[in-house]
Amino acid sequence: MNILAIETSCDETASAVVSDGTYVVSNAVASSTDIHKTWGGIVPELAAREQLAYMIPVLLKAMEPFMAHGDGLKTAIEKHIDALAVTVGPGLIGSLLIGTETAKTLAFATGKPLIPVNHVQAHMYANFIGGKEIAFPAISLVASGGHTELFLMKSARELTWLGGTIDDAAGEAFDKTARLLGFGGGGGRAIEEASCQFKVQSAGRRTKSKVILPRPMINDGTLNFSFSGLKTAVMREFRKLKSPTFADTAAFSYEVQEAICDVLVKKTMSAAYSTGARSILLSGGVAANKRLREKFQKAVTGVNPPVAFHVPPIELCTDNAVYIASYAFFRGKPVGWQTVHAAPDLSVET
Ligand code: KG4
Ligand code: ZN
Repeated sequence: MNILAIETSCDETASAVVSDGTYVVSNAVASSTDIHKTWGGIVPELAAREQLAYMIPVLLKAMEPFMAHGDGLKTAIEKHIDALAVTVGPGLIGSLLIGTETAKTLAFATGKPLIPVNHVQAHMYANFIGGKEIAFPAISLVASGGHTELFLMKSARELTWLGGTIDDAAGEAFDKTARLLGFGGGGGRAIEEASCQFKVQSAGRRTKSKVILPRPMINDGTLNFSFSGLKTAVMREFRKLKSPTFADTAAFSYEVQEAICDVLVKKTMSAAYSTGARSILLSGGVAANKRLREKFQKAVTGVNPPVAFHVPPIELCTDNAVYIASYAFFRGKPVGWQTVHAAPDLSVET
C-alpha cells in the first residue's frame, strides 16, 4: 500500500511516498531554517510564505518516481497512490494550512482517502522504517523543538501518553541555551558540535567540567520533565564570566548536553522499568544528538530482562513526511476531506 504524505507543521516542507508503512519510495524535504537564523527564532509568517513557495516543487519531487513516463501529478496519484496523509497539528497555523489545503485539494481531485496525522505522535513511527521488528510493550520518547513526551506503546496501534514537559521542551532548551551561549539560531546541532570541541580539548584526561548545571526533576518520581530552570541557570552562570573564551562556551555546551540527556535517559528508563517495556523508541529532532543516542545505548546494555533500544537514522529524526506516512499506515483513519482542518493546538495525549 503506497501512502503519499505531506508535512508542513513548522519550517520544513516535506512530502514522501512510503510503501506498507516501512519502505521509503521517495522523501523530499525543503527547509526555511536558514531564513530564520538572522531573527534568532522561527518567524511564523516567513515560515508560512516559504511553505507556499516550496509545497508544489516538494510534492512533485516526492511523486517523481511515478511521473517518469509522462503522467501528470493527478494521473500518477490515481494510478500509484492508495491513500493521502497530512499533518493537521500541532504546529504553526500558517504553515499547517498550506499542507492541509494541498492535501484536501489532492483528495478532492483524485478521490483518494485522506488520513489526518498528529505530528508529535507520528515522530515515533520513524522507528518502523526499514521493517524493524519491535518488541512490545515499548516506551516511546518523542523529544522535539516543541515537545518532550513519553508514551507507552502496547502495539503499533495502541498509544497511551504517560508524561511530558511542564514548561520548555528538550529541543527548546537546546535552542534557548544555544542563543544564550552565542550560537544564534544554531540550536541543538551547534551545542553538540561545541560539546565535541570540549571533549577534544580534554581528550585523554578524565577531566570533569567545572561547569555544573541542574538536572531538573530527575529524581522526582514522575514521568514529567522541566527544562526552563536549566536555561535560567545557564543565563546566570554564563553571565558571570566577564569575557568568555571559546573553551568556556564549549564547557557550557558540554554540560547543557549532559544535563538534558541525563534527564531524558533517566525518565525514559524509569518508564520502561515501571511498565515492563521490552523496547525503547527514541524520536524527534533531539534524537539526532549522538551523545543522547550513546547514553541510551549504554543505559540498556546488560539490562535483564533485555530492553532493545531503537532510534531512526539521523535524517529521519528531524521533520520529514516519511514518518507521517508510516503513522498513517499503522494508526491512521481515513476521513472525508471536508472534515480535515489545520489544528495548531492538537493534543498529543490522545
Ligand atoms: O522534530 P524537529 O525537527 O521539529 C519539531 O517538531 O520541533 O525538532 C527540532 C529540534 C530543535 O529544537 C533542534 O535544536 C533539535 O531538534 N535538534 C537537536 C539536534 N538536531 C536537532 N538537538 C540536539 N542535538 C542535535 N544534534
Ligand atoms: Zn517534529
